[in-house]
Amino acid sequence: MPSVQAAVPKEGDERHDQVQTLFSEIAPRYDLLNHVLSLNIDRSWRKHAVNKLGWEASPTGSYLDACAGTYDLAIELCGRKDFRGRVVASDFAQPMLVEGRRKIESRPVSAVCGDSQRLPFPDDSFDGATVGFGVRNLSDLALGLSELHRVVRPGKRLVVLEFTVPPNPLMRAGYLFYFHQILPLVGRLVSGHPWAYTYLPESVKGFPGPPELAAIFEGAGFRDVGWKLLTGGIAALHWGTAT
Ligand SMILES: C[S@@+](CC[C@H](N)C(=O)[O-])C[C@H]1O[C@@H](n2cnc3c(N)ncnc32)[C@H](O)[C@@H]1O
Repeated sequence: MPSVQAAVPKEGDERHDQVQTLFSEIAPRYDLLNHVLSLNIDRSWRKHAVNKLGWEASPTGSYLDACAGTYDLAIELCGRKDFRGRVVASDFAQPMLVEGRRKIESRPVSAVCGDSQRLPFPDDSFDGATVGFGVRNLSDLALGLSELHRVVRPGKRLVVLEFTVPPNPLMRAGYLFYFHQILPLVGRLVSGHPWAYTYLPESVKGFPGPPELAAIFEGAGFRDVGWKLLTGGIAALHWGTAT
């Protein structure tokens, strides 16, 4: 069994492959751990993301949920009362898509196994796109955002949810304690995976803060870029409009 330090993914292709393996391995426990470790707050974060997407302008449109995992964000979108469109949910870890497949039965969601850094869709395919807690895992973030820009029609929106570090010192101290001490322990016990839940706080620590991420959105071609901190800055909602 690999040691925790040695196994946490670093950069580039190696990171890409290790992240794919990691999510493939934890897929059977992903939903349980997701809701337990976030104390179910993740559900409200996904509602904020869909509220920001602007799908109401094209309720019969086609939407992409990239890094879709077990479809929670795709389901939040297609469960909206007046939504009559469809959602393509893509992820490179097939076991995540397989694990969640019952959740999308009789819903307008189709699953595609694919890499968000090389999306298997033509230019201007979608009326909007979402990514929930996925972009932090990309080995080339700028490339992933450029790909998302390529497949979203001009004038339509990308909305991204991601973890971040709270700005308030007291909140930050509590969050870092939970993230570095409690979460890896519970994650290891429940998932049985030796380092998946050590990777999570490590990946948040090394990830650009909201202003830097907004700048990468702009560099990828998005305009009207903005962000909003959620739950005191544990997570952040980012958005931009494709040009
Ligand atoms: C933390 S999970 C989030 C899943 C889901 N969006 C949610 O909100 O629960 C991150 C997902 O991103 C996927 N992922 C990471 N890097 C990816 C890449 N380069 N291409 C496609 N999927 C990727 C993983 O396989 C995993 O399912």
